[in-house]
Amino acid sequence: MPSYDGEHDPAPKSAGRDAAHEDLAYLIDIGAPEDRFRADVLNGLSEPQPFIPPKYFYDAFGAEAFERICETPEYYPTRSESALLHAAAPDIAALAGPHANLYEPGSGAAEKARILLTAFDRPAEYTLFDIAEDQLRNVAASLNQDFPSLRIGAVIGDFTRTLEPTADMFGGDGKRVCFFPGSTLGNFDPEAALGLLKTFKGVLRPGDALLLGVDLAKDSARLDAAYNDAQGWTAAFNLNLLHRLKNDLGAKIRISDFDHYAFFSPRDSRIEMHLTARRATSIELNERVFNFARGQTIHTENSWKFTPKRLADLVAAAGYELTQSWGGSDAPTTDKTQRSDMLLAWCEVQ
Ligand code: SAH
Ligand code: TRP
Repeated sequence: MPSYDGEHDPAPKSAGRDAAHEDLAYLIDIGAPEDRFRADVLNGLSEPQPFIPPKYFYDAFGAEAFERICETPEYYPTRSESALLHAAAPDIAALAGPHANLYEPGSGAAEKARILLTAFDRPAEYTLFDIAEDQLRNVAASLNQDFPSLRIGAVIGDFTRTLEPTADMFGGDGKRVCFFPGSTLGNFDPEAALGLLKTFKGVLRPGDALLLGVDLAKDSARLDAAYNDAQGWTAAFNLNLLHRLKNDLGAKIRISDFDHYAFFSPRDSRIEMHLTARRATSIELNERVFNFARGQTIHTENSWKFTPKRLADLVAAAGYELTQSWGGSDAPTTDKTQRSDMLLAWCEVQ
C-alpha cells in the first residue's frame, strides 16, 4: 500500500523556483491555514462524533496522493469530467466569450483548466487558488510557461474565506468565470455549500458565471469502489491526516491503530470517509488525551452526490441561474452533449 514516507519538509524555495514565480501576474497569500490547524483538530476531536476538516488533507503528500487517486481505475470522476469538458468546451467557450478571466478555487493540478484555456477565445487571465502551496507554485509556473500570452495569478489560502480582489486581479475585460469542478462542492454539507457559492459571488459581477462540475448519485457499488481503490491511494490520502497530526502538530498517535473506511450512505446521498480505530487507542495533543474505543471513528470527509434538480435548487438559492448543463446520465446524446457520470452546469450571476 502506498504510504506517507518522510518528514513534512516545505521544500526550500530555490532561486530557480522564485525566478519562475516573479513572472506571475500576482501571488497573494491570504493567510496561512496552519494557524488554525491545531485549533480545528482540538475542536473536532472534542465532538461526540470526532472529525477533522478535510481541507487539512492537502499538504504536499496529500496533493500528490490525490493526483494518484485520480489515476486509479476505480476513481471515475476525473476521467468522466475531463471527457465531458472536452465535449462541452466549444459551448463553454462561446458562453465565456473573448478575453475571459478564469478563476479556480481549489485549482489542484489544474489539468481541467488547461482544457478550457485551450478552447477559450483569447483568454486573458487564469487565477489558481489553493491551500496546497507547493503544488500551487509549481502548477502556476508550469502554466505560465505553457500559456505565454495568458496572465497567470495565484492565491494561496482557504477558499472558504471571502477574497477581496486586489487591483492586479481580473485584468481581462471579458467575463469572470469561476470554475469549480471535481465535485469539490460535494465535500461541503448543503448549508456550507450554499454559503460557499455565495462567497464566490464576492469576486463575480452580474452577468459573470460559475461553471460547476459535480458527481451524480449512482449505483452504490461503483461509488464504494471509487473511494476504496485497490492500490490503496485513498487509504493513504485519508491516513495522511494522522501523519500531519503527528509531524506538523506533534501529536502522540499510533497511526497503525487506524484504518481507512469509506462507504456510500444512501440516506444522505453521500460518501462518508472515516478513520476507524482497529483497537482501543488514544491521541494526545496539547496535553489533552482523546480516547478511542475499538471501532470508533474520526469522520474526515463527505462527498455528497447530486441530482440535477438538487444542484439547480442549490445554485438558485445562492443567487445564480443555471442556464445550461452538460452530461448527466439522462442527457440526450447529440453531438453537443453526452451522457456522463458527472454534471457540468453554467450558472449566471443574477
Ligand atoms: N479543481 C481540480 C482539483 C480538485 S481537488 C480538479 O477538479 O481537478 C480539490 C482541491 O481543492 C485540492 O487541490 C485542494 O488542495 C483544494 N482545497 C480543498 N479545500 C480547500 C480550501 N478550503 N481552500 C483552498 N483549497 C482547498
Ligand atoms: N471532491 C472529490 C470527491 O469528493 C475529490 C475528493 C476529495 C476525494 N476527497 C477525496 C476523492 C477522497 C477520493 C478520496 O470525490
